[in-house]
Amino acid sequence: MAKSALITGIAGQDGGHLAALLHSKGYKVYGVIRGQMETSHPRYQKLKNEMPYVEFVMADLLDLAVLVRTMQLVKPDEVYNLAAISHVGYSFKDPILTADVTGKGVLNVLEAIRLSGLEKTTRFYQASTSEMFGGLDYNRPDVGYNEDSPFHPRSPYGVAKLFGHWITRNYRESYGMFAACGILFNHEGERRGPEFVTRKISKAVARIKLGKQEYIELGNVDSKRDWGYAGDYVEGMWRILQHNKPDDFVLATGETHSIREFCELAFANIGIDIKWHGKGEKEVGVDTKTGTTLIKINPEFYRPAEVDVLTGDPSKAEKVLGWKRKVNFPNLVKLMVDHDLAEESGSLYTDITDEGPLRHIVFFSMKTSASDEEMDEAIGRLKKIGKKTNGARLWNVSKSMDFRKGRIFIQNTVFDSVDSFEKYRNSKDHADFAQYMSKIADWSTGDYLE
Ligand code: NAP
Ligand code: GDD
Repeated sequence: MAKSALITGIAGQDGGHLAALLHSKGYKVYGVIRGQMETSHPRYQKLKNEMPYVEFVMADLLDLAVLVRTMQLVKPDEVYNLAAISHVGYSFKDPILTADVTGKGVLNVLEAIRLSGLEKTTRFYQASTSEMFGGLDYNRPDVGYNEDSPFHPRSPYGVAKLFGHWITRNYRESYGMFAACGILFNHEGERRGPEFVTRKISKAVARIKLGKQEYIELGNVDSKRDWGYAGDYVEGMWRILQHNKPDDFVLATGETHSIREFCELAFANIGIDIKWHGKGEKEVGVDTKTGTTLIKINPEFYRPAEVDVLTGDPSKAEKVLGWKRKVNFPNLVKLMVDHDLAEESGSLYTDITDEGPLRHIVFFSMKTSASDEEMDEAIGRLKKIGKKTNGARLWNVSKSMDFRKGRIFIQNTVFDSVDSFEKYRNSKDHADFAQYMSKIADWSTGDYLE
């Protein structure tokens, strides 16, 4: 029988990636969303449209009774607890709610599993974080934090997550539950909320390129983060729950980069070279060619306490789980800027088929010169291939994009492995598709695979 998984926080960045991954592995996926969402609610419809294979359940991490009811109803084989107040800056503004949701909410989910008598059968994943390390006691500067490094959280969010981390370990030790924590370093991508710095930058860069925005305002541009791609990290979450015993694992890239570097690379993707002038709040990032100020500092985005530098050591996960990130830093930045250029140009994501299980996502864009007939023909053809390739879900980045060459790329995240991607790439269906598309568009595949 197919395994079932319940994802809390399914509407967030990781929830979407994880749902697609589990679905591609044949799971029955349930997702917790909150609010009074009738099925006619636009937000519900958007989620349903994005993840037609998910059965949504209304629940809130603050409400133990409804969580118990949910567990009794779903009886999931695996629970991925991703729901949280997850914005570090916001957690200073609403520390009590953060403690309730991000901290005590974890206990509510664990208790709901236990009170439903599922503690021996249901595996539990807790979304722990590198924010628990805090960046101060940087005891392993060369290799980064690992599972044995000391914790020193620097925000209400980090403190709440530490409670979630320890209560998960406590339930493992007290009740023999398969309760495991992934200590994840920052992971980003096209699904990242715009309140987080990477997406704020990639969106602003796209908007500046399209003439929709003049400059971006940021806080501390000197902090450094270990940034990976979210699609790679959900694969690690899944592997953590498939391991032969419950354990905790760091997922990270092992590299760290400053916000400054992220900005420079993001602007380089649209052909702008940034130079920095001035100091502190007066510092600006300037386009070297035109002299235009594109980055300003606004102290509004400073935090009462900062985590200056985070680097993770993923060697345990690499050795024990065989997990490794695939998308590197330059490709991550490029992927996000490309996505936001498409999104901000108003032409992204017309879903052209919703049939069948999600196997892979194909993005494609047409040459700006493609005619309506060419477009229709391509769409018809893609639909057919979608059916043939076990219901591939196809996304159309439409021809109105005028800022880059036509390109097809296949996002690696929803493939089980690079091998399965390669298999598809070499398959007859793909060859057919490629031959056709090469007539009407310049294209390349797997742009973001290393
Ligand atoms: P995210 O985009 O902020 O998603 C969090 C989700 O939690 C949102 O969909 C939100 O629902 C939901 N939520 C908030 N309060 C809730 C409540 N009271 N009851 C039920 N759901 C609630 O976060 P993410 O980036 O996907 O991260 C997933 C998890 O990993 C989070 O726990 C985060 O703290 C942790 N984490 C993330 C990273 C990272 O770099 N992304 C790194 C380490 C750990 P609404 O959509 O309704 O607001
Ligand atoms: N959000 C934001 N907005 N951050 C800014 C800005 C800005 O305008 N300007 C500078 N920063 C700096 C922050 O001060 C921080 O040092 C860094 O950019 C990263 O901020 P975020 O992108 O908000 O992420 P985070 O590292 O604080 O937290 C994220 O990663 C954690 C894992 O380490 C979140 O996803 C957490 O939920 C996650 O646990």
